[in-house]
Amino acid sequence: MIVNEFIPKPYTQLLDRGAVAYSAPSNIALVKYWGKKAHQIPANPSISFTLNNCKTATSLRFEKKTSKGFSFEVFLDGKLQDDFKPKIEQFFSRIEVYVPFLSSYHFVIETSNTFPHSSGIASSASGMSALALCLMKIEQQLNPEISQAFFNKKASFLARLGSGSACRSIEGNLIVWGTHANIEGSSDLVGIKYPYEVHHKFKNYRDTILLVDKGEKQVSSTVGHNLMHDHPFAEQRFAQAHSNMEALIPVLESGDLKAFISIVEQEALTLHAMMMSSNPYFILMKPNTLEIINKLWAFRAKTGLHVCFTLDAGANVHVLFPDNEADEVQKFIATELAEHCQNGHYIEDKLGLGAEPIKI
Ligand code: DP6
Repeated sequence: MIVNEFIPKPYTQLLDRGAVAYSAPSNIALVKYWGKKAHQIPANPSISFTLNNCKTATSLRFEKKTSKGFSFEVFLDGKLQDDFKPKIEQFFSRIEVYVPFLSSYHFVIETSNTFPHSSGIASSASGMSALALCLMKIEQQLNPEISQAFFNKKASFLARLGSGSACRSIEGNLIVWGTHANIEGSSDLVGIKYPYEVHHKFKNYRDTILLVDKGEKQVSSTVGHNLMHDHPFAEQRFAQAHSNMEALIPVLESGDLKAFISIVEQEALTLHAMMMSSNPYFILMKPNTLEIINKLWAFRAKTGLHVCFTLDAGANVHVLFPDNEADEVQKFIATELAEHCQNGHYIEDKLGLGAEPIKI
C-alpha cells in the first residue's frame, strides 16, 4: 500500500551534513487501539490524551555517505543501544519510499526519556514520534516550502509506521486515530486533533501513572495486536470501540464526568479482557493493579470525586482526574496508592500540547 500524498517531490536543496532534534510526548488512550491489519492500519478507531511530562528527546546527526543501505548508530542516555536497532531498521524500511534520503546519510541517533527507561512505560509512542519529527525536519530543510500542517500530518503518518500509537503523539491534546463515521477528518493513516468542542472540565486533566511493575513488557505490542486475529470476540470489540468513540462526543462536550469515567474504565478492562480471552491468553494485571483499582473505587464512592483509572497493556495504572480535584486526589495517591507501586514510584502528568523542536 503506497500513499502518494506522502511521496516527496524531488528535493530542491542538498545537504552534506546537519543535525536536528525534537522532543515528543507519550499519550494515553481513552478508547484503545488493540488489533491491527497490514501496513499498521488499526482495526478500530482510538482517542488519546497527549501527555506533558513523559517525553522522549531525540537528536539526529546526519552525514552524506556513498555506501548502499541504511547506516545508523543509536544511543540511549549516551550509551550505545544496539537492541534498539532492529525496530529502527524495520521502521526505516517501512518508510523509505516516503523518505528517500534515508539511505543517503549515516545517522547518529541520540535519545533520552524524561521517565526511567525501566519504568514499564512504553517509550515507543514518544520515541517513534520524536524520530519521525526529526526526519520531517530534515525533509523540510531539503524542501523548505512544505507547510506546518503537512509537516505534522506526514510526521504522524511516518510515526504510525514505527508504532501505531506514536501517530497520536505529534500534537495535543486530544487526538483521534482511525476512521470513524461521526468524526470528520478521521483517518486510519494519521492522527488528527479531535475536531469538536471539549468542555473546560477537561482542561489540564491529570494523569498520574502508578508504576506497579517496572519490568520489561510481558507481551510485546506486536504479539498483543496479533492476538486479535481469530479472537472469538474481535468483531464485538471493534464494534464496541466505534460506539464508545461515538458516546464520547457528547460527553466531551458536556463535561459529563460520570459518563466519561464509565467509558474509560470499560475500555481499560475490555483491553485486558481481550488478552485474558485470547489464544494464548495472558493476565497482565498484578495483585497491586487490583488493589489500586479497588481502593480507587472505594475512594470515589466515599468522596464523590471524579477520579478513574485506565490501563495500558501492562500492570501500571493511569489515574485520571480533573484539575480542580487534584489536591484531594494527589493526597489520596500519596497516602493510599503509592504503597502499591514498585519502590513507591509514580509519575505526575497532565494533558499536553504536543511535540516541540529542540534547538541544536
Ligand atoms: C494498549 O502502538 O505499542 O497502548 O503499532 O505494534 O507499535 P504497535 O503497537 P502500540 O500499541 C499500543 C496499544 C495500547 C493502546 C493504545 O495506545 O491505544
